[in-house]
This record gives sequence, C-alpha cells and structure tokens, in this order.
Amino acid sequence: MSRDVSDSELRPALHRVADMIADDLQDVGQYPVMPRVRPGEVASMLPGSPPSEGESLNRILDDYARIIEPNITHWNHPGFLGYFSITGSGPGILGEALSAALNVNAMLWRTSPAATELEERVCDWLRQMLGLPEVFRGHINDTASISTMLALAAARHVQPGLEVRELGLAGRPDIPELVVYTSDQAHSSCDKAAMTLGLGLRQVRRIESDEQFRMRFESLVEAVEADRRAGRRPMAVVATAGTTSTTSVDPIDRIAELCHREGLWLHVDAAYAGSAAICPELRDLFCGWERADSIVFNPHKWLFTPFDCSVLLMRDVDRLKSAFSLVPDYLKTDEEDVTNLMDLGVQLGRRFRSLKLWMVIRAFGVEGLRDRIREHCRMAQDLASLIDEESDFEVVAPVPFSVVCFRWLAGDSPEQQDHRNEALLNEINAQGPVFLSSTKLDGRTTLRTAIGNLKTTDQHIQDAWQIVRSAADRLAADQLR
Ligand SMILES: Cc1ncc(COP(=O)(O)O)c(C=O)c1O
Repeated sequence: MSRDVSDSELRPALHRVADMIADDLQDVGQYPVMPRVRPGEVASMLPGSPPSEGESLNRILDDYARIIEPNITHWNHPGFLGYFSITGSGPGILGEALSAALNVNAMLWRTSPAATELEERVCDWLRQMLGLPEVFRGHINDTASISTMLALAAARHVQPGLEVRELGLAGRPDIPELVVYTSDQAHSSCDKAAMTLGLGLRQVRRIESDEQFRMRFESLVEAVEADRRAGRRPMAVVATAGTTSTTSVDPIDRIAELCHREGLWLHVDAAYAGSAAICPELRDLFCGWERADSIVFNPHKWLFTPFDCSVLLMRDVDRLKSAFSLVPDYLKTDEEDVTNLMDLGVQLGRRFRSLKLWMVIRAFGVEGLRDRIREHCRMAQDLASLIDEESDFEVVAPVPFSVVCFRWLAGDSPEQQDHRNEALLNEINAQGPVFLSSTKLDGRTTLRTAIGNLKTTDQHIQDAWQIVRSAADRLAADQLR
C-alpha cells in the first residue's frame, strides 16, 4: 500500500494546522519563552517504538499540541531577546508551507524552472535593497556557516598554482600554509570552515579587536606581513559587519583596500546586520563591502523570513561555479544559458527557500521592512538609555543596531561580578516572560538583549527591563542576608 492519506482526511487536517499556526502566532506570548521542562521529559512522553499501524492525523496533531508545541523554546515569542531574535512572519510561513507542499528539488533549472528563476530574481531584489553593485549574484543556502565555507572554498580554489580541486591538500609539501584572518570577535563558523576545508584551525588568525570590538586594522596588516615573511600564504580576510556578541563592525573599507593591495579574498560576514543595510541611513556602517569578493547575509535572522535562509552574494559567481561544478551523466541537460543551482555548492538537492523570502518582501515592501528594522534599532537605543540611568548597571558596547550588551556592577572582584551576572541571567530566564543570552567580552560575563521580533513592543522592552531590575534587587537582598 503506497497511497497517501485521503483527501477527506487531509483537507480538514490542513485547515486545523492553519488554525493551529494562527493560534500559536497570536497566543505565543502566553507561554514562558523557555519551556519548564527537564532534559529527557519530552522523550519520556514519546513511545519508544514506532506505531505499526497508521494513526489518524487528528490524533497526531493532538499530540503535537500536547507534547511538542508547549515544550519548545518559543523563538516567535515577543519576549525572546536572546542570541539573535528572529521572526517567522506570517507571509514567510505561507511561503514555507507552500514550498513543503510543492516538494521541489531545485537542483537543476529543469527540475524547477520557477524555483531557480525566483531565487535569482529575489536575490537580485535583495542586492538592490542592500545597495550593492549589479555585479553581485546571490544564491540561497541554509545557513551562514555553509555560505562562509563555500566562499572560503572559492577563495582557496582561485589560489594560483594550487589546483586543490584536482590534487587535494594532503601529502603536498609544495603547498604553503594558507592563512585566513578574522577578528577575535568573529563567529566560529570561520574556524569551522577552516577545519572543513583542510586549512586547519592554526591557520586562522584571530586578530585582536579594539575597545569597541572592531578588528584592529594595524594588527591585521602586521599579521599579514609576518605570515608572508614566514613563508605562509595569506589567503582571505573575513570581516564582520555585526559581530555575534556586540554587533560591532570591522573597518571594512580599510580591509578592502588591504585585500586589494595584497591579493586577498575579502569575505564579509553580515549574517545578522546585513538587514540593516536596506536602510540608506545605516549603510555607511557597511562602507567598503561593495568591494568584497563575497558577502553572506541571513534573511532568517533579521528579515522576518522563517528559518532557514542564508544568501551568499558573490562578486564573480563563476569562481564558485568552477570550484564546485561537477556534472555526472545522469544530471546532464541541454538547456543553455540557465543556472543549475547544484553548480554553486556541495549539495545536490535544494529546498525552494526563495518562495518565503519573495512573500516576505512583497507583503511588507521595502519601505515596510525598513520601518521595522528602524523600529528595532530605536527600541535598542531606548533600552540602552534605560540601562544608562541605573547606577549599578552599565552598557558595555556601542549599540549600532538592535543588540544591547550590559553588565550588572555587583560584586567586589571581576570573578564575583561574573558569578553574579550569571546568577542574574538564570534568575531572569526562570521567570518566563523574557529570555536573554550572555557572552564574554574581554573575558567578562556580559548579558545581551537582542531585539528582532515583529511582535516585540516598547511595553515588552520596559517589562523586560523591570524583570532584570527586580531580579537584581532580589539577588542583592539575598546576598545581604
Ligand atoms: C556574525 C555571524 N555569522 C555567522 C553566524 C552563523 O549563522 P548560521 O546559524 O546561519 O550558520 C552567526 C550566528 O549567529 C553570526 O552571528
């Protein structure tokens, strides 16, 4: 028996799912952001072996409502202010649902002309929205980690005389160490790319950052010179526009100049902050990225597109194609002048991710998206002002976008202060209505508030701050006892 469930069962189930989604989006704020669940508790509610007979869709959906939905961390919650807060907006959810229904594999133009051409068009819309030159061509991957890995693979591929694609790296004394430079604030995806591509973690130079967490340009220049003197080959710089901890922006303009002079590949990681470049008044922060060889930007972070959706913009897409294109007989086609998306990376199969992005851009419009980004940035400034008014808290990094890093100034030594900030974070997150995350800056525990959800309002931010304030007061009173 290979028949799908009957239309008479599926149709009402689809309607029920539509209602469940709408209800969840409407009521998500009533859940605690983090479920009150212990490790193993969800597993204990699930049978240890699969059902031998099929079950009704209604029963499965009942279990979804009982076991799954209440026990996830609610990223759609307006009080989700941790990591990078994201929104799977209504239009994006429609696109995601329809792409699941179409079940398209956009590996070749032939296997989905619409998915291929929509992806190309939507990526070009994005390019225009970001103010980048026409030469950039974009395509969509799952995550920034993969986009960065592909960009560095292209950088390795164009190294003269190496022929890594054919000859590999192992067992080759003729190859010097290939070095990648990034800041000590850069995302770990840069290290993972180096691990994966056979460059090795030791060949990733983590250049120190300045007091505002931006890569120190002079240190970068020195590191490149030192590597050349030692016979190593500087290969690429990964500059970040919007670092993960503080959203600081590296001096991309100067770095671009250096890369041009030294023949280094410039990859810009704008995974989170790229969205802000759609606002012309924020674009100065990205000055120089138009000279990059590759840029990654994640609409799933701050462009209201459901996870996952990462755009890799390439100055010369043929460099990526020549690094990865490999067409076995069973995938040969005779269409000319078409893009076969499988040529632009490791994977063959590809989800139809541009559909949701198309729906988001159309439903909000460029001006609507700008307004939403501006609103988040304004709320972050307001929160920073609230924190500044408190004598026992400090904002510890500039706030160029929508993330505020702060610290509770409790405790006599740095260690004690770290310990108290960790306790404060646990106390805040245990309450339920908000969820914050933490990081280390200059080795010190720091709390982070990231604003990126469409449902987050001024009231949520004020409530969140009250929760922080009262949690700190409670902990301070406990310490006096
Ligand atoms: C600056 C930056 N780059 C890359 C990444 C990795 O993103 P992804 O989860 O899409 O791989 C992140 C994740 O937060 C990030 O902040």
